[in-house]
Amino acid sequence: MYSSINRCNIKSKSCGEGQASTKSPNQDLNECDKLLSMFQTVRINYVDKQAFYAELEAEIRGLLETTWFTNLSNVSAALMQHLPDLNWAGFYLHAKSEVLQLGPFQGLPACLSMPFTKGVCGKAARERVSVLVDDVHEFPGHIACDARSRSELVIPLVIKTEIGERVLGVLDLDSPLPARFTEEDRKGLERIAAILVGSTHWPTEF
Ligand code: SME
Repeated sequence: MYSSINRCNIKSKSCGEGQASTKSPNQDLNECDKLLSMFQTVRINYVDKQAFYAELEAEIRGLLETTWFTNLSNVSAALMQHLPDLNWAGFYLHAKSEVLQLGPFQGLPACLSMPFTKGVCGKAARERVSVLVDDVHEFPGHIACDARSRSELVIPLVIKTEIGERVLGVLDLDSPLPARFTEEDRKGLERIAAILVGSTHWPTEF
């Protein structure tokens, strides 16, 4: 006898109480089970990065709905699950004027907030460009939330509004390996960030 914790309706992407089943977890998977088990067990092959990001993008598109905290939570979980050698993946949000506030993430508890003037995240938010740091010890003003972090990639989340661009926050990825992130990672993750920004209903204030 096996039991599943969640049962999911793919159309509404909502989950309900689990039910006992007489089948093994790998038998006769319905669409919901497939979605859940995909994220629990499968890692996309990271050797061919172009193929990797195409598949990751498709998976993330399948997860997205419109609620900002739901999307940010699931995107951080999917990135942590699929990208090898990360110790932190998540979001800082532009909650107060030129201050980033910790949002949904995976990894160790982290700094609660940081100004646009500080850290790798601050630089990405301030300059509205992705920042790839091979060795965080060489980055002046790096904020060490997790002492294991050695390299970092931060991607700003920017949306166009009627009165100009609005910085929503940043996607922050940390690795314990030096020079973990490449230009291919930057491009693939910028694309995922753009899809996330475009698919989400953003509140006027966080
Ligand atoms: N390293 C970041 C701070 C955030 S934590 O790493 C999660 C920075 O310097 O911006």
